[in-house]
Amino acid sequence: MDIIRAEERHLAAIQQIYAWHVTNGSASFETAPPDIEEMRARLAKIRSAGLPWFVLLEAGVVKGYCYLAAYRTRYAYRYTLEDSIYVDRDFRHRGAGSALLAKAVEWAERHGYRQLIAVVGNSENAASLGVHKKAGFSISGTLQNVGFKHGRWLDIVIMQRTLGEGAQTLPHREPGRQSA
Ligand SMILES: CC(C)(COP(=O)(O)OP(=O)(O)OC[C@H]1O[C@@H](n2cnc3c(N)ncnc32)[C@H](O)[C@@H]1OP(=O)(O)O)[C@@H](O)C(=O)NCCC(=O)NCCS
Repeated sequence: MDIIRAEERHLAAIQQIYAWHVTNGSASFETAPPDIEEMRARLAKIRSAGLPWFVLLEAGVVKGYCYLAAYRTRYAYRYTLEDSIYVDRDFRHRGAGSALLAKAVEWAERHGYRQLIAVVGNSENAASLGVHKKAGFSISGTLQNVGFKHGRWLDIVIMQRTLGEGAQTLPHREPGRQSA
């Protein structure tokens, strides 16, 4: 498995992976799968924010992806990111999610971010809860019944992981710059 930065040529696979999870799962609270143009716009937005979108390749084929986005856009949140990970339904349970998340954590720490948030769709999402727990996240709280999809009410579980020195020190620099 290789993990590299997402490029335009990966968009079709990214769109297909996400579309399946939107249509069949409750991790995403989107209900209509976005098309490739929309995914292209999302990739461009992440890139223009200076943030990473990684793809995991197996034998050259995209099997999963993970990107980091601002948790919130207001300036005081600038040391806090949110991750999103999606793995091809037929490639789950092979370590791809863990590998992608480890790559994202490593990138975020190296670039001076201090907190990483996961907004986990659905409190029964054992895979997402598990992959984040294994990566050092803990549960901050549950927002109950805030979503309605596939005919049922859905919770959101907020998970959080400290990056680097966390709150033990004040920031040394603006986030986004690579450490020396
Ligand atoms: C969540 C997701 C990204 C995990 O990816 P994955 O490649 O299957 O996960 P991994 O194989 O790396 O598993 C890592 C750990 O997560 C946990 N885990 C994974 N799947 C699990 C499951 N179905 N039940 C319980 N724990 C699970 C385990 O602790 C596992 O470690 P182990 O194999 O040593 O036991 C993947 O299932 C997925 O795309 N789900 C749908 C979308 C989603 O929920 N994304 C997260 C949005 S916040």
